[in-house]
Amino acid sequence: MTTKPTLLQQLPPDLDGNRLPKQVAVIMDGNGRWAGQRGLPRVMGHRKGVDALKALLRCCRDWGIPGLTAYAFSTENWGRPSEEVAFLMTLFERVLRRELAEMMREQVRIRFVGNLSALPDSLQAEIAVAMEETANNTGIEFTVATNYGGRQEILRACRSIAQQVQDGEITADAIDEQLFRQHLYTADLPDPDLLIRTSGEMRISNFLLWQLAYAEIYVTDTLWPDFDRSAFHQALLAYQKRDRRFGKIRE
Ligand code: FPP
Repeated sequence: MTTKPTLLQQLPPDLDGNRLPKQVAVIMDGNGRWAGQRGLPRVMGHRKGVDALKALLRCCRDWGIPGLTAYAFSTENWGRPSEEVAFLMTLFERVLRRELAEMMREQVRIRFVGNLSALPDSLQAEIAVAMEETANNTGIEFTVATNYGGRQEILRACRSIAQQVQDGEITADAIDEQLFRQHLYTADLPDPDLLIRTSGEMRISNFLLWQLAYAEIYVTDTLWPDFDRSAFHQALLAYQKRDRRFGKIRE
């Protein structure tokens, strides 16, 4: 039995289905402020942030956007109060365990990028299970950057390429963009077409430094927990108004 999509599930008529981004990246900023404005502890903002992320994933699926990459924890986030870091690690673990069955039902393929070996063992185990179980799913490709830093990713790629040169596997001349990207965590993912950052900050914050080279950047004052379908709709409308030239001139 097929269910008729509700109005909210359908692509809004003012969006062009042929010009949607294939890969959307999000910097989910403003959880702490959202909680603060309501007199709640910061961690409540993170909890609410998970709901907003789930809603965005559903929206991408409904509107035909095949890839979403979310910045969940940066290499710099370890500098937050230890209770907040511990809360986030436990939250990631619990959410993964809780949502696995639904990700299977919805055919989400989840993967994590970043220096995962520095995460708590129990979280690493949960990540391994989720990645393995969902590996053959055919729906949306969902990438979670956790203990991720763009500079660290580039350095890691350099070390790995230098090792190949040292071992005589390749010559220095063979290092081009294509080879370089194969050494990034995101080797088999397309570069983001659109980067969304919530809460008004105009920064990339060490996120996907190589991959964002030609992404359209959209910043909204909306705080992450409030980022809903209508906010995403606005972001996509703005994206479709942009003239993407990739350094060339318009034909
Ligand atoms: C930034 O807001 C948000 C984070 C550092 C955490 C984001 C994580 C989630 C929403 C959970 C995702 C869960 C999974 C399993 C992928 P902030 O704390 O910097 O807010 P502020 O700038 O207002 O202080």
